[in-house]
Amino acid sequence: MTGPAVRVRDERGIGVVEIDHPPVNALARPVRAALLEAIERLAEDPAVRAIVIHGCGRHFIAGADVREFDAPPAPPLLHELLNRLEALDKPVIAALHGTTLGGGAELALASHYRCATPDLSLGFPEIKLGLLPGAGGTVRLPRLVGIRRALELMTSGTPIGIAAARELGLVDHELRGDVLAGALAFARERVAAGTPPRRTTDLPMPVPESPAVFDEARTALSAAARRVPASEAIIAAVEAAAARPWREALAVARERFDACRRSTESRALRHLFFAERVPAPGGAPQPVATVGIVGAGTMGSGIAIAAATAGLEVTLVDTQAAALAAGLERIARHFTDVHRKGRLDAAAAAAAGARVRGAATLAALAPVDLVIEAVFESLEVKRAVFAELGRTCRPGAVLATNTSTLDVDAIAAASDRPADVVGMHFFSPAHVMRLLEIVRGRDTTPAVLATAFALGKRLGKIGVVVGNGFGFVGNRMLYAYGREKELMMLEGASPTEIDRALEAFGMAMGPNAVGDLAGLDVGYAVRRAWTDRPDDPRFYRVSDLLVEHGRLGQKNGRGFYRYEPGARRGTSDPEVEALIRAEAERLGIARRAIGAEEIVERCTLALIGEGIRLLEEGIAARASDVDLVWCHGYGFPRERGGPMFHADTLGLAHVLDRIRHYASACGPRYWTPAASLEQLAARGARLADEASTGAT
Ligand code: 3HC
Repeated sequence: MTGPAVRVRDERGIGVVEIDHPPVNALARPVRAALLEAIERLAEDPAVRAIVIHGCGRHFIAGADVREFDAPPAPPLLHELLNRLEALDKPVIAALHGTTLGGGAELALASHYRCATPDLSLGFPEIKLGLLPGAGGTVRLPRLVGIRRALELMTSGTPIGIAAARELGLVDHELRGDVLAGALAFARERVAAGTPPRRTTDLPMPVPESPAVFDEARTALSAAARRVPASEAIIAAVEAAAARPWREALAVARERFDACRRSTESRALRHLFFAERVPAPGGAPQPVATVGIVGAGTMGSGIAIAAATAGLEVTLVDTQAAALAAGLERIARHFTDVHRKGRLDAAAAAAAGARVRGAATLAALAPVDLVIEAVFESLEVKRAVFAELGRTCRPGAVLATNTSTLDVDAIAAASDRPADVVGMHFFSPAHVMRLLEIVRGRDTTPAVLATAFALGKRLGKIGVVVGNGFGFVGNRMLYAYGREKELMMLEGASPTEIDRALEAFGMAMGPNAVGDLAGLDVGYAVRRAWTDRPDDPRFYRVSDLLVEHGRLGQKNGRGFYRYEPGARRGTSDPEVEALIRAEAERLGIARRAIGAEEIVERCTLALIGEGIRLLEEGIAARASDVDLVWCHGYGFPRERGGPMFHADTLGLAHVLDRIRHYASACGPRYWTPAASLEQLAARGARLADEASTGAT
């Protein structure tokens, strides 16, 4: 024994090092220290002829311990440990299985031989945390798989399975059955054959596949990847490996790693990594095997696809025969497509499709465990559905509404069993988007909330529990963000200028392009039904104006932009600019040029201000929940960590200062700082450090 996390034993001449550090065998400092001690001991033991490294549990090693990256690395450093491992003069065999990621994959590359079971998932996901493989991956991987492939693996972060790993020569031998028994047998064969250590860094660096291989890698980066400095750092580190002796190149990689570790982008991505592992709310979830979905439109069929893919039996109800047929057809087409694209084999796709049955009346939902209502966004319509669900569904069944803005308590009251009712706000397309806002109503029981959360997890969603209030977290913030861009269009910014500025900031799509995609009439209808919307003739006036002129967005080829048939991106339309100009004149608004900086600042400060109010009111429990909602539901750039993390990056005192600036420049109506912002800024606090309000 060298410590609880690492065990060493001698199996008839083979030294076995077992890493047992649940949940994922991350290479935390005590594990590194114990590993170093273990390999030194085995190196000195004359009875040991070879060494096998094994990870206990479901994972080999999931990488370095991400929690340690907020501080400078503490010895023993992982790259030094791996250099020592590689230098041993007894063969070292990595017994790979399951997840072998980041520093775990680098440990495998520093081992002399690698064998693996078919469940292997090997990869370099550091880029997703804004990092580069910093423990030798950038010098060893290209020597094994070539420069181009190494760059692809490290800049994408996508893991590979056993077949690709074998083809690339990363795995020497595929194991069947027990990983440790197989690796021991492999080690004995090496010993019997007298095979010497085979060090990756002894291999020559391969000749670049093309003289421009590094520039090609740079060109291939997406816009989002380019915004993360680690992408360039990976390419530069491999470029150094191609040009210099490996130890010098490793020093370059170390320097780059440390700079990336300290970058805002990496801190933001690490923040999201931990935020995404949202703790489940208290309460014991009820088992769910059958799900009913009411409404076979785009949202209802998307939810049905997600549920059937997760193995649930689905009854899809629509009282309109044509809508039901169209929904079922959409679902069938989806499962044919996923099979055609190779994402599901024929039998699995057919089985998933067969799990969805259509029905014409709510009576079909009498026996199901949970119902998700996804009908038209109207309180009256939804209340009618819940009145019937309350009578029809079996006692104890959970009744969820997919409303995006309406009062969950008002919907729940209609069911006459509000304790069973919860909001489950999916985002479209529901089988693709990972965000799920789970709305706790006034009477929702902990068990019902826990059931909705567990179901979300089963559907692969990131569930965020929010309080009941207009627009919950996401859409309420969207209204603040949208309000500013609408005002700025009246004040002189064009729709294109707004979208360009926010896309350059990193938003996946500009807000006007999003409006056109969603359909401008959708928001128009919501605003008409919104009884206490701001009494301001400028509020969303541009969007309303476009709808009133028959411009509904992509669906009729005319919205903020003009769309040629089949085109996804629109072109600016002088007619829109003229309409806005005339409206500004009618409202007596003086127009001026508005720069990209102001566009971004007003929109992001509006988001931040509203997010802070949601925290203050307890509609959102944690700043990180707000970040999850905006990064996963609204395309906020991940490398900025979400609006609340961005506020902390700017500094709350600066945020307050700029909000006060706009209060005097634009008037206090929308720019009065939240009381909690003033308090937090005064004591130099960060939103991320504030304890959960627990109020939701
Ligand atoms: N460091 C610290 N904690 C980690 C971790 C890591 N590398 N990987 C996972 N964890 C923690 C999670 O935070 C979670 O903690 P919690 O239970 O307190 O919420 C717990 O382990 C279980 O993780 P998941 O809930 O994600 O479990 P899954 O089974 O769904 O997924 C996984 C397992 C695929 C390993 C996934 O956790 C994962 O992708 N982890 C990150 C892997 C990674 O990015 N590795 C690279 C690290 S950077 C590096 O190695 C740098 C090197 O080059 C020097």
